[in-house]
Amino acid sequence: MPANKKLLVLPGDGIGPEVMREVRHVIEWMDRRRSVTFEIEEDLVGGAAIDVRGMPITPDTIARARAADAVLFGSVGGPQWDNLGFDKRPEIAILALRRELGLFANLRPAIVLDPLVEASTLKPDVVRGLDIMIVRESTGGIYFGEPRGVETLADGQQRGFNTEVYTTHEIQRVARVAFELARKRQGRVCSVEKANVMESGLLWRQVVTALGAAEYPDVSLSHMYADNCAMQLVRNPRQFDVVVTGNLFGDILSDLASMLTGSLGMLPSATLGQADSSGRRHALYEPIHGSAPDIAGKGIANPLAQMLSFAMLLRYSFAMEEDAALIERACTNVLASGLRTADIMAPGMAKVGTQVMGEAVLRELDKLAA
Ligand code: NAD
Ligand code: IPM
Ligand code: MN
Repeated sequence: MPANKKLLVLPGDGIGPEVMREVRHVIEWMDRRRSVTFEIEEDLVGGAAIDVRGMPITPDTIARARAADAVLFGSVGGPQWDNLGFDKRPEIAILALRRELGLFANLRPAIVLDPLVEASTLKPDVVRGLDIMIVRESTGGIYFGEPRGVETLADGQQRGFNTEVYTTHEIQRVARVAFELARKRQGRVCSVEKANVMESGLLWRQVVTALGAAEYPDVSLSHMYADNCAMQLVRNPRQFDVVVTGNLFGDILSDLASMLTGSLGMLPSATLGQADSSGRRHALYEPIHGSAPDIAGKGIANPLAQMLSFAMLLRYSFAMEEDAALIERACTNVLASGLRTADIMAPGMAKVGTQVMGEAVLRELDKLAA
């Protein structure tokens, strides 16, 4: 383990900097209390970078991300940048990082913490104890497929088009991540596509089936169409252990899964690249939520998804399982004590803002580490 852990912190836009501020305090706490040193660089991405540098992410920022041991990303985007050309939008920042660093496996755990059982819009009996992992492919599919664009037809109409495309290799490497995770969990993988209407989905199903049979006979593999999966996630989410799916379906299903846990403001994620021969791999950690322009600047955003993303960073990039679990326990205890941000507010609880929630997590860390 390197003595100095190099982190690149990219707060971004909207609530990104608000929730990242609270995480910075947790990092400082760890520096003080846990004898680890983080060497932190911070940079602009998204709309913030467009305003200052005229582009959503610079080659220099991408180079710094490549050189870092891990990247902690906030969120990007906002209505003030919505009318820019497609190659200039704030969202390009995250897409470029995934693509340039080869971050193909986006791990999105949806875990229902006990104190939040009542916060879900679903019945407590349906979500209690839920612990699923959505593995979303994140450098391919329709997000990056060619051809793409908008063209003008002879009759003057316009035609917009994108291409869903997956190669054997792309499917195998993300499926491997899912199978490996399942081995450490309940040993079940559900692969999700639309093999009934899409050739790329049919190939996906065939490749995952062959890989499972050849290399992971101990893991139980099932297949499901994406539309049915959306329904099943709401009907009986605990039937799933690991779900593996493509970029677009994974984006949608993980937002859906977040509401099982109570709020989009609760879901962290890790996006991992391929490990090299020394075991080193690029990795980026971010909440699954966006910049939430509707609540930005009000100090009411839930910082827990960003904090839990940092916990994932400790676990997956630095094998600091104990410290990751410590942060997760601190978040759970604060919720158990009755504090709630607006998005997870329930009757009888105490409504607090971003900063008070962040400070409560720090106090809890002090208590747990005492
Ligand atoms: P969003 O995730 O920003 O917000 C959806 C809803 O959830 C909003 O009502 C918001 O207030 C709420 N919400 C989200 N995070 C919250 C939190 N931490 N605490 C409390 N409430 C929270 O999605 P959107 O509104 O569709 O998109 C807004 C912008 O964010 C768009 O520009 C979009 O492209 C971008 N976006 C960026 C990322 C990213 O940077 N990774 C992810 C998703 C969306
Ligand atoms: C996410 C976001 C991004 C995505 C956008 C902002 C490009 O929605 O990380 O879930 O669609 O991947
Ligand atoms: Mn999304």
